[in-house]
Amino acid sequence: MSNSKMSRRDFLKSASALAAVSCLPVSMVELAFADKRKNFMFAYISDSHIQFITGGGFVRNWDRGLIRAVAETNLLQPKPDFVVFGGDLAQLGMKEELDHGAEMLAKLDYKTYCVMGEHDYYLDLGEYWSKLYGPHYYSWDHKGVHFVTLNSILTYDDWTHERWPTAEQRMLEMAGLDNPNGSPFMVGKKQLDWLRKDLEKVKKETPIVVFSHSPIQKIYKGWNFWTEDAEDVQALLKPFNDVTVVYGHVHQIQYNQIGNISFHAVMATAWPWPYPQSYAQAKSHLPKLTVPMNRADPFFERDATGWQFIDIDNGRVSMEYNLSNNTNRTVAFNPKTGKPEDSAFQDPAKRIPPQTHY
Ligand SMILES: [Fe+2]
Ligand SMILES: [Fe+2]
Repeated sequence: MSNSKMSRRDFLKSASALAAVSCLPVSMVELAFADKRKNFMFAYISDSHIQFITGGGFVRNWDRGLIRAVAETNLLQPKPDFVVFGGDLAQLGMKEELDHGAEMLAKLDYKTYCVMGEHDYYLDLGEYWSKLYGPHYYSWDHKGVHFVTLNSILTYDDWTHERWPTAEQRMLEMAGLDNPNGSPFMVGKKQLDWLRKDLEKVKKETPIVVFSHSPIQKIYKGWNFWTEDAEDVQALLKPFNDVTVVYGHVHQIQYNQIGNISFHAVMATAWPWPYPQSYAQAKSHLPKLTVPMNRADPFFERDATGWQFIDIDNGRVSMEYNLSNNTNRTVAFNPKTGKPEDSAFQDPAKRIPPQTHY
């Protein structure tokens, strides 16, 4: 990743090689180094929302999404070094849902790192999840890259501990969009202190990849596409040359760059969310996304669901999407404009369908 001299032509070549892998509800992330022999890949599956139906098993479509993702991941060639599950394994944090999801994830042939989602957490505050997956936040090193998993879906203590008569109601209140009873997500002081200490031992030139569930940036508060203390986390990551944050939760493709930090969302295996209205209103969200609405047809429910390839080159990330109509799209850093772009899509003359509200 650092000092890579990979040209755009080289990137496209390698991206098309990756895209030859059959369509799958999983994201592949390749970390590309100057010395290509050091390159490695990991896979990312997110937001399966396994949902228990009282007395009647589980919602079949959500099960199928995760089963397919696991099966496709096991078939990947080349094989990823590990898999990250990006959170919201369960729909309402129930033991039945977490057990059923864990049973499906256990079929992965790779070491799997799990991220906490709000749907996993707010019934018992992550207690049962911990029995399955261990600590809520942690870090590790792999082939010269420092990986950090954060629990970004915490919130204010009084909301968590004092507001709701039952744990079930707390879970339901946090599960909704546009719910005035909800509360913004945060990493929290304790975890920020841990992260500060964790990063003290990491060299500034070491590439850092952070996994969170909610975006460590502020996109749209009404839907909790938002982390209240995002700036505090960003400040801790700022001294490093090369930082990438990969997150789930938003069930849609998002791409942004703030200083040295690239942000990338991955799709859900369960369902895609539509784009919030705020995307058309630059003043209502911070930061302004550098690649707004980068799906071909947001009104087509399966548009861009789940298949994307991320290639990290010199601290910038290029993403290749296999769309459901068998066309591809690439979002890549454009050195001329100094920001990530989907050049074909963002050229107004080439937009299909035309989009006029930006
Ligand atoms: Fe989700
Ligand atoms: Fe979520």
